[in-house]
Amino acid sequence: MSAESRSSPSRTRHPSRSCGAGGAHAGTSGRATFALGNFDRTGLSSDSQRAVMSVDAFWMVLNKSAALCEMARIVGHGGRLAMTTWVPRLDELENMLRTAGFRLISSAQTPRWRERQMAVYRGILRNRVPLEQEIGPGAAAVLVAEARDAPARLSGAPRRLIVAERQA
Ligand SMILES: C[S@@+](CC[C@H](N)C(=O)[O-])C[C@H]1O[C@@H](n2cnc3c(N)ncnc32)[C@H](O)[C@@H]1O
Repeated sequence: MSAESRSSPSRTRHPSRSCGAGGAHAGTSGRATFALGNFDRTGLSSDSQRAVMSVDAFWMVLNKSAALCEMARIVGHGGRLAMTTWVPRLDELENMLRTAGFRLISSAQTPRWRERQMAVYRGILRNRVPLEQEIGPGAAAVLVAEARDAPARLSGAPRRLIVAERQA
């Protein structure tokens, strides 16, 4: 999850470190900080961010309601949430967003998501041996299991770009 601060990075109160040399290289030096946290315990102050974003991680979160409440807490009124994730029941997600204080603005399926995802899974299965050598057998086994099992479930959970706004 990433968040866009309402103040300059040097004024944030949570434990963090600047991007350093990597940040300078990426052009984010002085504008971005890195901090370790959890979806439902970010360590960020209430109403301290203008927006939060997340790429393909929300589907893994066990307590989704707590995660949405935490995002609503840190952005404050008028703040935005943008995330991509796989959504089995859009109505359920919309309810969870509303309960946390968000209004759903848009929920479009991302272009060609299934085709792209299937290409990744085919690549994982085709390159199982070099993958094991690169990241170790344990981590590779997790990816291989997902590449085998997930395609059957994809039609029931399209990948969507969710945009929501925190209500007053
Ligand atoms: C599919 S990866 C996506 C990572 C990255 N956003 C990307 O696009 O490459 C999902 C990530 O969600 C993280 N994750 C799962 N549950 C989490 C939680 N409760 N709090 C923070 N991160 C979590 C996992 O550690 C994993 O790195």
